[in-house]
Amino acid sequence: MAMAGGFWFVVLVGVVLGVILNHFWPLFLKHRGVLPKGNFGWPLLGETLGFLKPHPSNSIGEFLQDHCSRYGKVFKSHLFFSPTVVSCDQELNYFILQNEDKLFECSYPKPIHGILGKISMLVAVGDTHKRLRNVALSLVTTTKSKPHFLNDIETTAIHILDSWKHKRRVIFCEEARKAGTLIFTFDVIVKQVLGLTPDEPQTTKILEDFLTFMRGLISFPLYIPGTPYARAVQEHQYIRSIKPKDEYLNWEDYKKMDFTQNVINEALRYGNVVKFVHRKALKDVKFRDYLIPSGWKVLPIFSAVHLDPSLHASALQFHPWRWEKQDQTCKKFTPFGGGTRCCPGSELAKVEVAFFLHHLVQNFRWTTEDVDQPVAYPYVEFRGGLALIVDQCSI
Ligand code: HEM
Repeated sequence: MAMAGGFWFVVLVGVVLGVILNHFWPLFLKHRGVLPKGNFGWPLLGETLGFLKPHPSNSIGEFLQDHCSRYGKVFKSHLFFSPTVVSCDQELNYFILQNEDKLFECSYPKPIHGILGKISMLVAVGDTHKRLRNVALSLVTTTKSKPHFLNDIETTAIHILDSWKHKRRVIFCEEARKAGTLIFTFDVIVKQVLGLTPDEPQTTKILEDFLTFMRGLISFPLYIPGTPYARAVQEHQYIRSIKPKDEYLNWEDYKKMDFTQNVINEALRYGNVVKFVHRKALKDVKFRDYLIPSGWKVLPIFSAVHLDPSLHASALQFHPWRWEKQDQTCKKFTPFGGGTRCCPGSELAKVEVAFFLHHLVQNFRWTTEDVDQPVAYPYVEFRGGLALIVDQCSI
């Protein structure tokens, strides 16, 4: 009996030592360069729990704040069971996105593969990814050019807002989910592109994402001249005034919504729907003074760049006007990723929000019922679903 106990004790010690050795082993290998500073945390989990700890999505969170101030914008860690280089540096993030399939490769954790399936675009790599992406892009291009697609989006927005006329309080996240389900074409795209059906939880998640766009406007619900709300009202009234009554909005109208596009960009910068993406180094990569060893996970953190005060003046303020002077196709603004994996749904998502806002600002005023900060979980969520008190108005 005592011998058997001793045997299992030795096995247990062996397993524990094996786990510890396996965890820290990459640090003892001889690398052909200097690794970024940082630490590997606890065996097995590393620093994953700290990294994933929820925080307001318009902040970088305690973990990144602490690590960047201790180690700089690029540091090493152990996340999602892999040795990892975390990048909060705009140049390195850009370099990673531009070198997809050459130096880096998309590498989502195994559970995501299980959920989306092996041939989903987000997890596919190499030729399979290229083929899927071509199909998706041509689907998006054809859909975009069909007027009934834009009409569907607008009809849905009107339908949802009509239902608010008899309500005093709405849970915005639920309304957005309804909108998503109603936009049949959108469902088709989600189905075709990601291989998801409308009732799967991931579909609901994607449909919810566009909520974050609303963040900024919700902060300024009153018609005070000089606020984003007042400016948006003016823009949408003007567009309506030059159109025949009851005519649907079209691409030309969308292109005229300059200020609304600034608001959407600012909400994407400030709200950070996608905080970071998953990559893996395909070979040893030298960047500045650091080495990123082959096989290590690499996480470009978009939110850190979006909220970096050295890159965006008054970064912690919602200020849509900054986009009047600022080009949105720049290294410091990547809400939809970049390079060959850049989001194919970006324009469609923006049109939906713009059309919804067009009808919202002309017909309603609203206030948030409670403070309900968007939280990075790491994808954005509102804990209380974002309850709004709404008042119908005709400005
Ligand atoms: C606010 C809305 C959205 C945001 C912020 C967003 C963001 C992103 C980001 C950051 C990526 C890059 C992932 C990576 O590099 O690993 C991506 C990829 C992707 N997005 Fe979106 N997205 C949005 C809406 C949509 C919509 C509406 C669709 C579908 C119509 C869509 C379909 C996709 C697909 C299929 C990919 C994979 C592309 C590839 O791997 O080549 N997204 N999205």
